[in-house]
Order: sequence, then structure tokens, then C-alpha cells
Amino acid sequence: MSTFYEKMGGEAFFADLVSQFYARVATDPILRPMYPDEDMKGAAQRLQWFLEQYWGGPTTYGDNRGHPRLRMRHAHFHIDTKARDAWLACMSAAVDGVDVNPVMREELWSYLEMAANSMVNQPD
Ligand code: HEM
Repeated sequence: MSTFYEKMGGEAFFADLVSQFYARVATDPILRPMYPDEDMKGAAQRLQWFLEQYWGGPTTYGDNRGHPRLRMRHAHFHIDTKARDAWLACMSAAVDGVDVNPVMREELWSYLEMAANSMVNQPD
């Protein structure tokens, strides 16, 4: 049984997805100011590590960052439904830009949508 990580194409797939995502975040008026790094390389690295680990790949995220506790790590960002929608729009375009079969795309997307909803921490 291979993992979702392997079936998707391993590190190359997640690197592609995350770099396409951050290329869009870099020009998004809501999201860009929330990311501190000048070039966002660190943020991209952390998201790639996290997604790889989540889908059964290497545990580099945990080795470097410990338990994800993502809601807690996002608590100091102002995430309302507008920010969530902006994040999902960048991610949707990234998912459209990578090579993935429709069944796996659906599984990936359901997870990302659910996770983004759970990160909202501000009322509208
Ligand atoms: C809903 C809208 C979201 C917004 C506005 C948002 C914003 C941010 C920001 C500003 C950071 C700090 C960047 C950095 O690492 O330096 C961050 C970190 C991170 N985000 Fe999000 N995020 C959102 C949703 C998500 C979702 C859905 C996931 C997972 C599927 C995710 C995974 C991560 C991870 C893994 C980190 C790095 C955590 C760490 O180890 O410090 N984010 N996010």
C-alpha cells in the first residue's frame, strides 16, 4: 500500500503545489500583509513540510516544529471568512495548476476546505 504522498508524486508534487500557492499569496492584498518573511521561503517550507507529513510523507514538519496545533499557531492572525476565502482562492488556483487525477484532487480539496474553515477565528 503506497501512501497518498507517494501516489501524488512525493516531494516534487508538494513543492509544486506550495510554490504555486505562495506565488499567489505574494500578490494577494488580504493575505500578503499577514506573512512576515520578505520572500516567504520559511512559510512555504513549513506548509510544504506540514502537508507532506499530513499525507503520509516524511515527518520533517514534526521533527522541526513539533505538534502542529494549527488553530493555536493561527490564533494571532486575523482570520475572518474573507481571509479564509482568499486563502482558499490561492489554494484552488494552485491545485488547478498541478498535475493530479480528479479523485485525488477531490480528496485533497475536501481536506483543505475543511482545514481552512477550522482556522477561522474572527466573526464577520
Ligand atoms: C484560512 C486561512 C489561512 C490563513 C489566512 C493562514 C495564514 C497563515 C500565516 C500568516 C502563517 C504564518 C506564516 C509562517 O509560517 O511564517 C501561517 C502558517 C501556517 N499555516 Fe496557515 N493560514 C490559513 C490556513 C491554513 C490551512 C488550511 C493550513 C493547513 C492545511 C495551514 C497551514 C499552515 C502551516 C503548517 C503553517 C506553519 C505553522 C508553523 O509551524 O509555524 N494554514 N498561516
